Amino acid sequence: MLRPEEIPAHIGLRRTVMDETTPTPADKNLKHPAEKAPRVFADTGTIDEIRPLLDAGIIDGVTTNPTLLKRAGASSWDMAKKMMKDIVKLLDPYPVSLELIELTKDKMIIQAEELASYGSNVVIKVPVGGYQAVDSSFDKHTGLKVLNVLWKKNIKTNATLIFNSAQALWAARAGATYVSPFLGRLADYLYKHDEVEMPVGNSLYYMEDHRGKKENTKVHNTAYVAAGGARKNAGIRLIHEISVIFSNYEIKTEILAASFRNDVQVQESLLCGADILTVPAPILMRVADHPLTEEGFKAFNEDSKAFEK
Ligand code: E4P
Repeated sequence: MLRPEEIPAHIGLRRTVMDETTPTPADKNLKHPAEKAPRVFADTGTIDEIRPLLDAGIIDGVTTNPTLLKRAGASSWDMAKKMMKDIVKLLDPYPVSLELIELTKDKMIIQAEELASYGSNVVIKVPVGGYQAVDSSFDKHTGLKVLNVLWKKNIKTNATLIFNSAQALWAARAGATYVSPFLGRLADYLYKHDEVEMPVGNSLYYMEDHRGKKENTKVHNTAYVAAGGARKNAGIRLIHEISVIFSNYEIKTEILAASFRNDVQVQESLLCGADILTVPAPILMRVADHPLTEEGFKAFNEDSKAFEK
């Protein structure tokens, strides 16, 4: 668990450059007390999971991806598009991220324009990299180029599949509205692939083997996470790192913490400066539950019976 004292105070300074998330309407005398609170999105393609969270005022946005839409029952692109349209309509005016499935720049831009036509609340999700993993002849910078074209076209974007702070910075400089660091997947990966006798992060980062026997040459991130993070909170430390960099340079691209695996990560992301959290619905439904709240409420309710006539 990341301890509050590990969080530098200047993370709070980021709020001074960021816009209000819950501005008080001009006709209200009582100022909204949480004008700069972080936003919470539901990470799902299932509309029935969204409704109760929206009704309770817990979420003010949704993120989807091809896996989530497939899980929600889409078996064709037409079905997926219908589901996305329904979510966009339900959420209006709150943002809904819709992910591109085309893989080349020109086709991605055409598809982005089509998806953006579903509503003014659509945000186009663009994978920041990985194109050459699909086809080695592809341009590895396709995502950054698409982000930049969409910024020029005034279309909001969410740079997805962010696993290091350089990717986040490249995406912000290309004009991304949001960057999505996948904290859960990063922690899962290190937990699964790190060799425990070597320093944390050895499966992703270059770590000199002090015994001179072995070197890992996969350089995927700065030394920060590798040097300081435990495997389980490596993802949280990535959010922290991006938050410090964006604070230092007054970058207004919002940090959309993604890929949550448990309730603790929700609170840790808030501690370390995420601007928005996109969380699976089952976690959102339970994260604010507490057994002492239940016990306390039951007792108050019992005692209130003394007042019944
Ligand atoms: C973010 O927008 C993604 O949809 C999501 O958080 C991915 O999470 P996963 O690692 O659970 O697939």
